[in-house]
Amino acid sequence: MGKKVAVVTGAANGIGQASALKFAREGYAVAMIDISPALSRTEEMVTEMGGEFLSCVGDVQDETAMENFINTVIEVYGRIDVLNNNAGIVVVKPLEDTKFEEFERVAKVNIGGTFVLTKLVLPMMKQQKEGAIVNLGSISGHVGQTEHAIYGATKGAVIAFTRAVAWEVADYNIRVNSVSPGSVDTPMLRSDIQLEATRTGLPFEDVKKVREAEQAFKRWAEPSEIAEAIYFLASDGASFITGSDLLVDCGWAAK
Ligand SMILES: NC(=O)c1ccc[n+]([C@@H]2O[C@H](COP(=O)([O-])OP(=O)(O)OC[C@H]3O[C@@H](n4cnc5c(N)ncnc54)[C@H](O)[C@@H]3O)[C@@H](O)[C@H]2O)c1
Repeated sequence: MGKKVAVVTGAANGIGQASALKFAREGYAVAMIDISPALSRTEEMVTEMGGEFLSCVGDVQDETAMENFINTVIEVYGRIDVLNNNAGIVVVKPLEDTKFEEFERVAKVNIGGTFVLTKLVLPMMKQQKEGAIVNLGSISGHVGQTEHAIYGATKGAVIAFTRAVAWEVADYNIRVNSVSPGSVDTPMLRSDIQLEATRTGLPFEDVKKVREAEQAFKRWAEPSEIAEAIYFLASDGASFITGSDLLVDCGWAAK
């Protein structure tokens, strides 16, 4: 058998980039997808570590583009061992100021993209009678967070989707789980904090301190700390784990 293959969406930044690098470091060929051309930075990093990759600058909502890319991955490597659905966006604002288009946009990327890629990798994983899918939930799918109703709803949907698909594909030895991080120091979180700072008139650092205190260690996670959890759920070490959501929130939900 050749290299194992991990498909990672949202691999240009943050958690997705850390996840792609983790799989590459562990010897996987990585098939990376991101809507941003900044994906080339992750390509360079994988190349520097001597890793192998295929990449696609595209939108996870675009079924045709995603299907073409997944077909290419199968043509080149002949298998898909892991799918990590990371690509996501956030809207943080009072519910009454939120437009229906914003709701649609967040839902289409966060749960829609997860649906599209999952559907596309399943035939290969079923044929192999082996595979692991790790989706990105969020603390926002577990606890009520002011101004996160739409985002939290999409993450709750990802967690519910994960449970149902886990049962649907269990007979094929495919495991489906999710990881729900607390606050992770990524471009997404920083722009979220910047918006809050602008809206409240508070300095960025003050808002950051409040948001760090939601974690028991009073800090944000590094993206690599989430990548470790993703990798664990994808690995043979998690062979009896399916349909689970792993909180990597430093105690936030336990409070
Ligand atoms: N950062 C956090 O605190 C945090 C907490 C909980 C969950 N999450 C989840 O983790 C995942 C990764 O978040 P992050 O913080 O690394 O975000 P990020 O913004 O730093 O990275 C997300 C990546 O997804 C890509 N992307 C967005 N829309 C896309 C689309 N339609 N098609 C393809 N790619 C697309 C972006 O270009 C970006 O590179 C998301 O699902 C997010 O909801 C993040």
